Amino acid sequence: MMHRPRASLALASLVASLSACGDPMMPPSDGSVGMDAAPTPDGAAPMPDVGSMPDAYPRFMGDPFMAPPQCTSGSMWTSGNRGSDHMNPGVPCIQCHTSVRAAPVFSVAGTVYQTAREPNNCYGGIGSGPQITVEITDAMGTVHNVAAFGTSGNFYLERIIPTPYRARVIFDGRARVMNTPQTNGDCNACHGATGSMGAPGRIVLP
Ligand code: HEC
Ligand code: HEC
Repeated sequence: MMHRPRASLALASLVASLSACGDPMMPPSDGSVGMDAAPTPDGAAPMPDVGSMPDAYPRFMGDPFMAPPQCTSGSMWTSGNRGSDHMNPGVPCIQCHTSVRAAPVFSVAGTVYQTAREPNNCYGGIGSGPQITVEITDAMGTVHNVAAFGTSGNFYLERIIPTPYRARVIFDGRARVMNTPQTNGDCNACHGATGSMGAPGRIVLP
């Protein structure tokens, strides 16, 4: 089954924050263990950093739908179909996962970018910074807060949900709303670099 890096990451972060305090036995005064350990009801916990990825990506200012086609993060996924939280950003996740036995089942998955026409396999997200949340409200009205990884913009939900669902992207106190309820959870299938089925292009930050 699926490998879960969450616990070990939380532990690594705990160790890091403990040693940052000077006294290795003293927890941080506010009792927190770093934002990557914040509880997320569904989906993936945000990751502090990934190897050689830059800490913070250039931030695009302006109308994301007016930006030229560009890879804002300047970083590309180059590991083919090796399973990872950050794999194949921008590519329809579920289309591929349902055709491969070894891949986990997602009800909802996709990638959040800074601008609307970013190419496949370009990392979305912002690097480190405020949490990006994809809020999914399922057909029963249950809200699933799915964390997107800052370093790739990827997000996924493994719990199977009743559809149609509604979606909003929440970031830095703002929200971007999809008006139409959808039954297909494979966000990147419509939200490609050019957009299809009426979608305006990539899912972008509010
Ligand atoms: C072209 C095929 C393909 C696409 C597109 C794809 N994946 Fe995967 N994914 C795989 C395969 C194959 C595996 C299992 C093999 C492995 O774990 O090495 C996998 C495994 C995973 C895993 C489990 C990793 C682990 O540690 O066990 C995650 C998480 C994941 N994919 C997320 C995504 C997300 C999110 C997207 C879309 C942004 C995506 N994948 C797009 C083929 C794909
Ligand atoms: C079947 C195609 C399709 C799928 C799948 C889809 N969308 Fe959309 N999305 C659209 C269309 C069409 C629009 C424009 C009309 C609207 O807002 O409903 C849109 C608009 C949006 C917008 C607002 C864009 C803007 O700034 O005006 C967001 C945010 C969004 N979608 C997020 C998502 C997320 C997150 C997912 C996956 C959970 C998803 N979408 C899946 C078709 C799709």
